[in-house]
Amino acid sequence: MDKLLIEGGATLSGDVTISGAKNAALPILAATLLATEVVVISNVPHLQDVTTMLSLLQMMGVQVTVDDRLTVEIDSSEISSHEAPYELVKTMRASILVLGPLLARFGEADVSLPGGCAIGARPVNLHVAGLQAMGASVVVEDGFIKARADRLHGAHIVFDLVTVTGTENLLMAAVLADGETILENAAREPEVSDLADFLTGMGAQIKGAGSGTIIVQGVKTLVGTEYRVLPDRIETGTYLVAAAMTGGRIKALQCAPETLEAVLVKLREAGALLEIGDDWIEIDMCGRRPQSVNIRTAPYPAFPTDMQAQFCALNAIAQGVGTVTETIFENRFQHVLEMQRMGADILIDGNTAICTGVDELLAAPVMATDLRASAGLVLAGLAAKGETLVDRIYHIDRGYERIEEKLSQLGASIRRVV
Ligand code: EPZ
Repeated sequence: MDKLLIEGGATLSGDVTISGAKNAALPILAATLLATEVVVISNVPHLQDVTTMLSLLQMMGVQVTVDDRLTVEIDSSEISSHEAPYELVKTMRASILVLGPLLARFGEADVSLPGGCAIGARPVNLHVAGLQAMGASVVVEDGFIKARADRLHGAHIVFDLVTVTGTENLLMAAVLADGETILENAAREPEVSDLADFLTGMGAQIKGAGSGTIIVQGVKTLVGTEYRVLPDRIETGTYLVAAAMTGGRIKALQCAPETLEAVLVKLREAGALLEIGDDWIEIDMCGRRPQSVNIRTAPYPAFPTDMQAQFCALNAIAQGVGTVTETIFENRFQHVLEMQRMGADILIDGNTAICTGVDELLAAPVMATDLRASAGLVLAGLAAKGETLVDRIYHIDRGYERIEEKLSQLGASIRRVV
């Protein structure tokens, strides 16, 4: 099992090019099931989760051609199966995103229940309830969600709570449904807007994506298109925090600054100097230690839960006491237990981590438990004295393209070992 070996202490500097957003590429690839013609998608990140999604589509009979490392051509005109099997779904929860498009285009879908994961139970009840409101019959048996519908019809759906993939699944179901669908209390994440833009390019009629209310007029068919996936705001934020923790100066290229404003606000509070262009962000810590910041995760445009672990790492070595409150997932502090083994002074009180910054973390062998926790541990290793060995980094390969290459180019001493 691969591990990352990190010799801490380097001050990061230089340029890093940001990849396409995992959480936009996954729903967009699922949405290709809706098209009767070939679609070409560029800026697709080279990640394990993307490979898994492409394998899932190919198992259904979709023709997938990877033109180069970043561009895929997809032909869903002929589908032979409407099933997402457990062996794939268990490795990637986002497989649930094929449920809506399969049902909308073919009237049937059998998708294995994703099950919980390290950060929480993560039920999909709101996905199912929405599809039922649109006329689908859904039964859960033998560990599968089995959905059937002659033709979905529009519905007025109000989400009990904000769900990103729930919004995306129902948006994809609505674009081919008969009539008008209104999604209220919808997720406003930029990845939802990116999916909506892609669907619109195929001929969908969507208004309000990016707001809390999305209105869809169903159409009969969706045609082919070409589309470029938006940059990954969480990857961007992760590298900016790496610079903030090591007193460095880096420039993130090919990013989308307007999608991570809440993170930039907190980096400024931590003492970072930021310069921002249309598609780049430069951060300069001028060799200073960051100041502690208080974080409270919430749905977009508030502070993203996927940046919570990274800011626990920053607060662990910052000047002062910072609190990190997690309001989205019920078990997303497992990285804290590992950081404590590196000498971090963090107390967990309910859904809040109270971080008292220490002058120095001490390297230790640590274990990644989920994608963003592993990013937080890598950041802690960059700032720690000595060699940190991060185990189970298959988690990190799911969401960060070539992380050790990109960090090495910034001056970090990091390498992959088996
Ligand atoms: C998406 O997960 C992201 N994944 C997650 O990123 C991200 O952390 C999360 O949104 C929150 O921003 C993808 O986009 C592929 P939710 P998702 O449905 O859609 C509860 C990463 O690191 N809920 O918005 O699964 C749920 O339990 C990953 O890239 C229900 O109760 O998250 C959670 O408490 C991790 N019933 C809350 O809503 C439902 O039917 C928000 O979850 C659906 C969700």
